[in-house]
Amino acid sequence: MAAIETYGARYEGDALFIEGVSLHSVAAQFGTPTYVYSKAALTAAYGRLDAAVSQARAGRSYTLCYAVKANSNLAILNLLTKLGAGFDIVSGGELQRVLRAGGQANKVVFSGLGKTRDEIAMALQAGIKCFNVESEPELERLSEVASALKVKAPVSLRVNPDVDAKTHPYISTGLKNNKFGIAFDRARSVYQRAATLPGISIAGVDCHIGSQLTDASPLVEAMQKIVSLADDLANDGIQLHHICPGGGVGITYTSEPQIDLVRYANALQQALGNRAVELLLEPGRAIVGNAGVLLTKVEYVKLGANKNFLIVDAAMNDLIRPALYQAHHEIVEVQRTQTQQRKEFDVVGPVCESSDVLGYSRQLGATEGELLAVLSAGAYGFVMSSNYNTRPRAAEVMIDGVKATIVRDRETVQGLVSGEYLLD
Ligand code: LLP
Repeated sequence: MAAIETYGARYEGDALFIEGVSLHSVAAQFGTPTYVYSKAALTAAYGRLDAAVSQARAGRSYTLCYAVKANSNLAILNLLTKLGAGFDIVSGGELQRVLRAGGQANKVVFSGLGKTRDEIAMALQAGIKCFNVESEPELERLSEVASALKVKAPVSLRVNPDVDAKTHPYISTGLKNNKFGIAFDRARSVYQRAATLPGISIAGVDCHIGSQLTDASPLVEAMQKIVSLADDLANDGIQLHHICPGGGVGITYTSEPQIDLVRYANALQQALGNRAVELLLEPGRAIVGNAGVLLTKVEYVKLGANKNFLIVDAAMNDLIRPALYQAHHEIVEVQRTQTQQRKEFDVVGPVCESSDVLGYSRQLGATEGELLAVLSAGAYGFVMSSNYNTRPRAAEVMIDGVKATIVRDRETVQGLVSGEYLLD
């Protein structure tokens, strides 16, 4: 694994801390399993990307539209609002979260391929910056709903640049045969159609080729393709206001190389040259991924002939990435032990599924009642959690210096069943 600081944590003596707060004290105060976020790590991650893009743009306009789906806790959205972020949403629910967190509608772009009429109307009424349109029927629907409301819907077409992101197939989205976006070679004619629709005003072009990229070249290649499309459109008399190559910048889970953000931003800028357009990005994981851990307690140590298990109180319902994508998250002891005290364990949850494994073959020295931290859990962690096995979802806590604040209460079983009814 990379240095513990990469994950927004550090050891003080042998005790694991996030900023000035020990994870022992977080567990004592809030229980487990709990997602624990670092305000400083999140702020630093945003700052690194913002600085790289700002420097590359050298005074030209840009907006970082944080992909809300990565982690939509209101405290996180509020923090990002204060840092100047815009937002990339994929549902009416995410729009409501952004507005509740103080985000500005005019910095919101709305992605996603199944926008309902209600969601479209809500976003139009809120006055969002742009709809990223994923199909021709969606374009027609947008025009209808906007016309009925006597407004125009600002749109980008999300085009599919057919670039291989070379990432896990479940999170690769830019190839021809997947459900996202409008085929690149159809895009020009769909823009022509958009230009004729009464409820549409053309604002930009968008793409997103996949997530957890560790090499920037596919991102840059996609950018070059959409910039050349923008040039073709300009020849057709269609001027774009912004260009967006999506999100996708990966993080270090184990020892993956990090995309050099300065080079990435410079390469995007080079593709844009002097074109008078705003640059938008839709980063999610790169902002929050390594600003959060999942804190969990060992319930049982089960030693076997062939395998040893640490059965912990977090499970696939809390963090589904290992089960769903075979994703590797580092798991560390909150009270560090000596190497010779460690054994090889599979770290598993209590859910009745063989796939409920948070980590295979880990060297750990934890005993019953001790705490572990599952690292790199800030993105696509809590947001993908479920109540499978009637497990209330975890609490979320944000650390700021020496202060730990609950930013989402642990669910209760009472709360889970409160909307369920018996037959007469
Ligand atoms: N923009 C669009 C249109 C997207 O679909 C996504 C992510 C993003 C931006 C943000 O991508 P990021 O910068 O986070 O890579 N649950 C999966 C990841 C799914 C990503 C879906 N789209 C995981 O846990 O790895």
